Amino acid sequence: MKALVLCGGTGTRLRPITHTMAKQLVPIANKPVLYYGLEALAAAGIEDVGIIVGDTRKEIMEAVGDGSRWGIRVTYVYQEEPLGLAHAVLTAEEFLGRDDFVMYLGDNLIKDGITGCMDEFRGNKPNSQILLAHVTEPRLFGVAELDGGRISRLVEKPKDPPSDLALVGVYMFDGNIMDAVKAIKPSWRGELEITDAIQWLIDKGMRVDPHIIDGWWKDTGRLEDMLEANRIMLEIIEPGNEGHIDSDSQVHGRVIIEEGAQIINSTIRGPAIIGERTRVVNSFVGPFTSVYYDVSIINSEIEHSIVLEKSKISDIPGRIEDSLIGQNVEVGRSPSKPSAYRLMLGDNSRVGIL
Ligand code: TTP
Repeated sequence: MKALVLCGGTGTRLRPITHTMAKQLVPIANKPVLYYGLEALAAAGIEDVGIIVGDTRKEIMEAVGDGSRWGIRVTYVYQEEPLGLAHAVLTAEEFLGRDDFVMYLGDNLIKDGITGCMDEFRGNKPNSQILLAHVTEPRLFGVAELDGGRISRLVEKPKDPPSDLALVGVYMFDGNIMDAVKAIKPSWRGELEITDAIQWLIDKGMRVDPHIIDGWWKDTGRLEDMLEANRIMLEIIEPGNEGHIDSDSQVHGRVIIEEGAQIINSTIRGPAIIGERTRVVNSFVGPFTSVYYDVSIINSEIEHSIVLEKSKISDIPGRIEDSLIGQNVEVGRSPSKPSAYRLMLGDNSRVGIL
């Protein structure tokens, strides 16, 4: 069985971060979100993985390479334009042939992995199996209606949801999906929708099984989701210290200090992770914070946030919270008069000021 991992798309909801990086590479607990997916596929025994790439193909290819790190073989498939999830399947026809495969959205995180549902698919041999989860607000998701243990209908963001079972972002198919993606027409938003392709299978009398997961999962397409995913993953990290904590500093709770990191006259309250060569000086890093590599945090306080590599945070008077700070960003106090906020923000940035 093969896998198709989707790492194209535009990532508009995560701008400005996605102006300069692939959203699938944003680190959650200091590990790119895509790596969790590749690990889950490898753990489920998949060796042959196609990765759909778009504009950000260079960095995805650099980050993943040939996949040997996970014991998988990676084939890259270039999708010129993000014309929908079913379009991605069509684009990958040469790689997939008519083999069984699991489609995995590269920005999704499924805490308990996918080994159980893969075994079920292999054992039961339906034409398709879709991962579903109970949600409190089904109106925000693609929703499945079940009938006699099978999926009978899929609806995108329904006003009147037929159930509380949302599509999770992992789908298993046999070769019939290739006929479906060729038969359907683009939706009102101009995309070939995977829900339409699955509905086509159902309408042709094929068997589409649900697999309901009870563990935590997240589509990390928005800032709030990234922060929540970060929170959940930090709660299960193995604490450890490979850096240096000076005698004036305190580290409480579940904390990883990575190699070469320095904690000087500071307090780190976990769950938190401090990346390689990052310096925290006269500062407080609070719960649910991931600080990536080569960052400096000086005379500042931060919690419930993600800071990407090479950024500098210094002399901030209040506490930074609920934030995603990009690569090479500088957040600092402006000493020159008159006192004022001096900002240089990229397109689509968001700043909250007291
Ligand atoms: P989405 O998050 O639905 O789409 P997007 O990446 O364009 O984001 P936004 O809505 O914020 O603009 O896509 C889910 C995953 O599938 C994501 O990893 C990107 C990938 N994808 C493709 O590879 N090709 C596509 O044509 C589309 C639509 C998405």
